[in-house]
Amino acid sequence: MAYADRDPFHNGDTPAFHIREKDLLYDIGLLRSSLSLNWGNYIMGYSVKTNSLPWLLVFLKEQGFYAEVVSREEYELVQKLGFPACHVIYNGPIKDRDVFEAVLLAGGYVNLDSSWELDWMEELSRRFPDRDFGIGLRVNCDIASLCPEEVLAEEEGGRFGYCYENGVLKAAVNRLQSLPNVRVSGLHLHSSTQSRTVDVYGTLARMAVQISREYGLALSYVDMGGGYFGGRDDKPDYRDYFQRICRELDTHFDRRKTVLIAEPGISLISRAVTFETAVLDTKDIRGRKFVVTNGSRVNLNPLVTRHSYPHHMEYASDPSTRPLEPCQWICGATCMEYDRLFEIKNAPRLMPGDRIVYDTAGGYTMCLNPLFIHYFPEVVIEKADGSRFIAREAWTNEEFLQKNHW
Ligand SMILES: Cc1ncc(COP(=O)(O)O)c(C=O)c1O
Repeated sequence: MAYADRDPFHNGDTPAFHIREKDLLYDIGLLRSSLSLNWGNYIMGYSVKTNSLPWLLVFLKEQGFYAEVVSREEYELVQKLGFPACHVIYNGPIKDRDVFEAVLLAGGYVNLDSSWELDWMEELSRRFPDRDFGIGLRVNCDIASLCPEEVLAEEEGGRFGYCYENGVLKAAVNRLQSLPNVRVSGLHLHSSTQSRTVDVYGTLARMAVQISREYGLALSYVDMGGGYFGGRDDKPDYRDYFQRICRELDTHFDRRKTVLIAEPGISLISRAVTFETAVLDTKDIRGRKFVVTNGSRVNLNPLVTRHSYPHHMEYASDPSTRPLEPCQWICGATCMEYDRLFEIKNAPRLMPGDRIVYDTAGGYTMCLNPLFIHYFPEVVIEKADGSRFIAREAWTNEEFLQKNHW
């Protein structure tokens, strides 16, 4: 095919997300061994919203993971993929009533978050007087005061769960404990701070101990949520987090009676996922060099919150023979001016056919992609045996036009 006739957007096998099974298995192994060595009695959950690619969910199910879901859609998705309802952890502030009941009746885990869920629980207890229900509560505590060094997700503090300091949590516990067949059996303490320190998890585990003692709760589980670092050599990993968490839990809980639940998302899949893109064009505009690629900021950072894009280059020819460019702006494939990813300084000149591979690209990316100008890119699995498998074909108008009428 002549150069001018090729499809400039789909350059070779890009753009595409790649998932390396070997790296995924490495982080799963790290999580499993950290939980097993430090506590022994544990459940590995996976936060479905982080990346709900069906191939990934089935892979994790086969590795023994439970599905942590926060919507009816996510629940129905994991059911279709074969997760039993008793292997579902249902969280979030806006639950669906049918799903709430189905998970509880099947013996799955539900962590209450909103005011009306207490009413639902009362009603369920009345309707099933012969059943016993264990229920969890999401704890909202003042991380800013407990860990002043921590960089919070939002300056005003977290909005999920029941507030410990003002007594709302205690009131919710009392209301549930007054029901004859309902027992508060779990606490959920997910943290989503930016700094993701080991200390914050130590503090949250201490909170679980404190609340359990103060309210006289015999807990069947403590769910430490997600929010960990993972896939980065310069940051703590599961070994550090669970050593600290379990040191605190050990001061009060009996490992044989209290299950430790973890429900990581990004830390589990970051290392394994890259986003592979190609340079399509370079343009000189009034002294600036713009490098046009077929990946986009919308693929990697649809919320436009990130300032850095870990990446590496794969040059089509020896970069040492190329002139050095003082500055090159890497730009995305949409027609939006803001679709610029990063600037590289004093680096070999980029040329069409070079590849820019974004590392740690698995969390809150491929499933948050908008259908904006271009559709979902392909997802390729690099299997442990070296073979490749297409887990999701790139979307075309065939998928986009589904359920449309005109
Ligand atoms: C309740 C809950 N659990 C787990 C996670 C996964 O977090 P992460 O992807 O940071 O590990 C989240 C993410 O927001 C969450 O809200």
